[in-house]
Amino acid sequence: MLSKKLEDAINKQINAELWSAYLYLSMSTHFANEGLPGVANWFEMQFREEQDHAMKFMNYMVAKGSKVKLQPIDKVDTSWETVLKAFEDSLAHEKVVTALINDLVAIARDEKDFATDNMLQWFVSEQVEEEDSVQGIIDSLRLIGNDGHAIYMLDKELGQRDPEPTATSIP
Ligand code: FEO
Repeated sequence: MLSKKLEDAINKQINAELWSAYLYLSMSTHFANEGLPGVANWFEMQFREEQDHAMKFMNYMVAKGSKVKLQPIDKVDTSWETVLKAFEDSLAHEKVVTALINDLVAIARDEKDFATDNMLQWFVSEQVEEEDSVQGIIDSLRLIGNDGHAIYMLDKELGQRDPEPTATSIP
């Protein structure tokens, strides 16, 4: 069983992960409407990953005999002026998530809850990867500027992103 403090903090994190999923789903549908199916695909894969992050936390809570309490999900933006703006928003959001994960690690260590600390290390690494991949796309978009052909090519590349194995498919 987790401490009440950690249980509350992880429940908040589950909400943050589901909000992230909702944000990326909104970005995906926006760019599908804008005629950029590759960008839409990239954000849809991100949407799926965020759902999976929430599942990992929920599975952990259940395994520890703690209560998952799902809360309402706040609204998200529904349109972005440019692809670059959407990815910049994504990076800003991922930095917030990284700080939240770091706060969770600090609580777990303070409580000498090494099992939770160990579980959280997966998320620590995942956040490094997430920020790096979004930063890489931002760098490309800044280089491209308003070059329509290059945006078309980048859209093709982003369309090739495949789904990751999910929490339920990882033993
Ligand atoms: Fe679940 Fe993108 O952090």
